[in-house]
Amino acid sequence: MKPILAFDVYGTLVDPMGMADLLAPDAGGAAESVSAQWREKQLEFSFRKGLMRMYEDFGACTRQALRYAMASHGFALGQEREDELMAAYLSLPAFDDALPALKSLEGDYLMFAFSNGTYPALEKVLGHNDLLAMFDGLVSVDDIRSFKPDPAVYAYARRATGAMEQPLCLVSSNAWDVIGARAAGLMAIWVQRDAGKVFEDWGIEPNAVIRSLSELPATLNNL
Ligand code: LAC
Repeated sequence: MKPILAFDVYGTLVDPMGMADLLAPDAGGAAESVSAQWREKQLEFSFRKGLMRMYEDFGACTRQALRYAMASHGFALGQEREDELMAAYLSLPAFDDALPALKSLEGDYLMFAFSNGTYPALEKVLGHNDLLAMFDGLVSVDDIRSFKPDPAVYAYARRATGAMEQPLCLVSSNAWDVIGARAAGLMAIWVQRDAGKVFEDWGIEPNAVIRSLSELPATLNNL
């Protein structure tokens, strides 16, 4: 049976490392390192807030992580500049393969964006990259005030996408997201854009591994 598709957003459709160039005036040669730590801490904060049952939305995780990453590299960020960078986060660039892949699947599959991001943030970042219109709907964890990889979030995605009889298949380049989805009974395809990226060995495997979203139509046919 054809799966319904749920696309992860940050790291899969849009590139959080797209902030590195924008951070150059603030962090100089450390911009790449700040950008990478910003992303790592954003995720860590979401995991911890989920475990602590202290939900604040993903935008709050992003802002607190930006402050942390700058401070830990020895930089200060004024309120105005922080707001500017947070606004820029809503216009992160899409990966080149995202729009063509979604176009090639359009009409053949029901497709949802499924993310830790809030609806306003998802509408902005996907709309900015012409990706929003490709989806039959958006599913945000904000509806149930928890974060991936809480199994409740994946169960909610099934209900929200109507994938009760049909399988729901996550497409994500975040290995921890793939493991979370598989553990919660979803199908999942891991997008391994970087050949050097290692899948975490938890004994929980993706249904397929692809190097680019352009491989999706053929891969889905063979699942
Ligand atoms: C998302 C983050 C986890 O879009 O990448 O859900």
